[in-house]
Amino acid sequence: MKTIRMGILGCGPRGMQMARITKLLPEFYTLTCMSDMNETALEEAGKAFPDIRLFRSSDELLDSGLADAVITEVPPDVHMEYVAKALDRNLHVLGEIPAVNSIEEGQFLWEKVNSSKALYMAGSNPNYREKTRLLYNLAQQNKIGKVAYIETEYIHDSTGMKDAWRKEYEACRYCTHSLAPILKLIGSELRTVCCMSTYDRLKNGHRHNAMSALYSTKDNLVVRLLTAFAIPYSGPPHTTKIYAEKGVLELYNDKARVWLPEDLSPEVPQVYEEIIFGTDFTYRPADLKIIDEDLFRQAHYGHNGSDLFMMMDFADAVLNNKPSPIGVKEALMMTLPGIYAAESAREGGALKTIRYPWD
Ligand SMILES: NC(=O)c1ccc[n+]([C@@H]2O[C@H](COP(=O)([O-])OP(=O)(O)OC[C@H]3O[C@@H](n4cnc5c(N)ncnc54)[C@H](O)[C@@H]3O)[C@@H](O)[C@H]2O)c1
Repeated sequence: MKTIRMGILGCGPRGMQMARITKLLPEFYTLTCMSDMNETALEEAGKAFPDIRLFRSSDELLDSGLADAVITEVPPDVHMEYVAKALDRNLHVLGEIPAVNSIEEGQFLWEKVNSSKALYMAGSNPNYREKTRLLYNLAQQNKIGKVAYIETEYIHDSTGMKDAWRKEYEACRYCTHSLAPILKLIGSELRTVCCMSTYDRLKNGHRHNAMSALYSTKDNLVVRLLTAFAIPYSGPPHTTKIYAEKGVLELYNDKARVWLPEDLSPEVPQVYEEIIFGTDFTYRPADLKIIDEDLFRQAHYGHNGSDLFMMMDFADAVLNNKPSPIGVKEALMMTLPGIYAAESAREGGALKTIRYPWD
């Protein structure tokens, strides 16, 4: 296989964004086909990519023989269904996150991926953000020490947005963006959770304006996670504050603030070092014809360029027969906690024990 023939399921905003990313990486990908049952979405895909095949049904795309790999850019409640269908056809999958929609699906995906010859990678772009790489580098150099407590937030005011799925979704299930980067740092599963919802207090038509979950590991590391899709906020910010043995780290979309002093005595002033992230978003393959320059720039720029790095890693694993960069265990470690959090919220904040298929 010289380049991966890529099919994308779903022509919504995210499917279109990922399609543009494949076009930015012609050395790895040839975008061959996309699917959507929505005529308007299909039409937009046809306009942006006149040289690909369009399908009204994802099953037809999967059976077409036109793709070696697919990305599942469909709503979260059907991510797992199409990952499983693709693996059944020996197609490699970059599976959108959250990886599954229920505890039972978690068990099913675990077994499916472990018995498949094709590669499954969780499409966890936050793992490829510059701030995540900074975090891992510091941890590797033993500069952070033992972590005591983490606060992390994903606030995305989607009240005026096209993304239909966010309106009904229990926001706490969208925990993957915040949990994936820190789980690698924590090194163990989250084991208990309680969560509460504001419901639609602001009466803006979203089922939950904001949801706040409190998690802990077996050895009492505590994580507070706020996910909010319907409160006024300019962003969308992903923020993480890590309180550790050797100091404090604050991670934002475009910068980090780090206080990891040699001397922790109280009389030494708490001075933070600020690290600004800057990625070059001007890169374009020389012969790429771009019809919608602004959208391409957004795709490239979106998520601080992390999509591009994630897609390179997926291609490297598929083309060079390497293990999945983000496998099914990591996918479930970042997804299942949110499903238990939603259960807790439905029961008014009841404490839940989180179980995993490998327990
Ligand atoms: N990783 C990230 O940073 C990130 C960012 C945004 C969205 N997402 C994920 O991407 C997914 C899609 O997001 P979106 O904003 O484009 O959502 P969306 O709901 O706006 O669009 C989804 C599209 O999929 C289509 N669709 C539904 N079922 C389908 C099927 N079986 N086959 C083919 N198409 C189908 C819909 O008609 C719609 O056009 C979401 O599930 C979300 O989890 C991830």
